[in-house]
Amino acid sequence: VTAWPDRRFLELTGARLPIVQAPMAGSSGVRMAIAALQAGAVGSLPCALLSPDQVATQVAEVRRDAAGPLNLNFFCHELGVAPDERAWRALLAPFYAAEGVAAPSGAPVLRLPFDAAMCDMVEALRPEIVSFHFGLPESTLFARVKATGARILASATIVAEARWLAERGVDAIIAQGFEAGGHAGWFLDRHRPVGLASLVRGMVATVDLPVIAAGGIADAKGMAGALTLGASAVQIGTAYLNTPESLAPPAHRALLGTDAETVFTNLLSGRAARGFVNHLMAELGAMRAEAPVFPYSSIALAPLRAHAEADGRGDYSPFWAGQSAALVRPQPAHDFTERLARDALALITGDF
Ligand SMILES: Cc1cc2nc3c(=O)[nH]c(=O)nc-3n(C[C@H](O)[C@H](O)[C@H](O)COP(=O)(O)O)c2cc1C
Repeated sequence: VTAWPDRRFLELTGARLPIVQAPMAGSSGVRMAIAALQAGAVGSLPCALLSPDQVATQVAEVRRDAAGPLNLNFFCHELGVAPDERAWRALLAPFYAAEGVAAPSGAPVLRLPFDAAMCDMVEALRPEIVSFHFGLPESTLFARVKATGARILASATIVAEARWLAERGVDAIIAQGFEAGGHAGWFLDRHRPVGLASLVRGMVATVDLPVIAAGGIADAKGMAGALTLGASAVQIGTAYLNTPESLAPPAHRALLGTDAETVFTNLLSGRAARGFVNHLMAELGAMRAEAPVFPYSSIALAPLRAHAEADGRGDYSPFWAGQSAALVRPQPAHDFTERLARDALALITGDF
């Protein structure tokens, strides 16, 4: 077999292929991580919506069927005080009326950032890899994760964020271009969308760490292109959404492989995330000042979303997807991963 020319990511992670199956909270889980690991990639478990005990259960389930580098992924947003939601609820009032559902009341369930309890669990589980989105946890928690021996990956959306992460001891940078599906992982000041080609070139020139290209990579030419730009590996999300291992509902899958548009929206969570345009976004516009800060804006939407989804409608659902969603075909995650790597390697080595 021809070897990958850039081995930095492979040596760092122990993976056979320079591919990270992206963690996709709500859309991927144990089965997809197993399939990716079995194919030789880094398999990821999105943990942002899980309790520490649920993380332990899922890791055990993965370990029953697959060895290899497992990545546990966490969010590092700052959870501020609950914002004033009056303007947001007023904006949603016509939607509650049209759907015939009541606005939610009572204590919401919120996405929690990586905290001490989760850190205890990481110390107990000792995953090969931990990845962070929206920056890093505070320094004592970061030091504890590092001390477990886990390789640490983190998303950056501008070169300055990559430099910030490198200075704090991250082992590899996930260069998340604006093409990427899901939440933009920006964490310095504000969201400044940069395309993947400029981002990868800028980071490779500036930071002496392996760069993992993420955003809009859905086939071998895309992967070969990213590696040619200087990335050591790729992280792929959307292309895994139409696999049997995906947790995406039928209404989400139905948009993959079509020319349906993806845009950044803050309506569904309170932070810019790229996904298919839904009814709510079409009616209100995708970015609104009234949407409460992440993760609060999802609370008022929950009853609308549940009501529509029970009907098979994604009118209020976050159907995250990247800009290459049109290229996605239904196929098993294992086969996709293997074929992608084989064809990309042939393209970059000229070995057809
Ligand atoms: C449905 C979906 C959910 C996602 N959830 C997460 C997540 O939980 N954690 C994370 O770090 N990134 C998440 N992402 C972003 C991916 O890590 C990655 O940046 C992105 O998928 C790459 O672009 P692509 O979707 O065009 O391949 C998600 C992406 C999608 C499409």
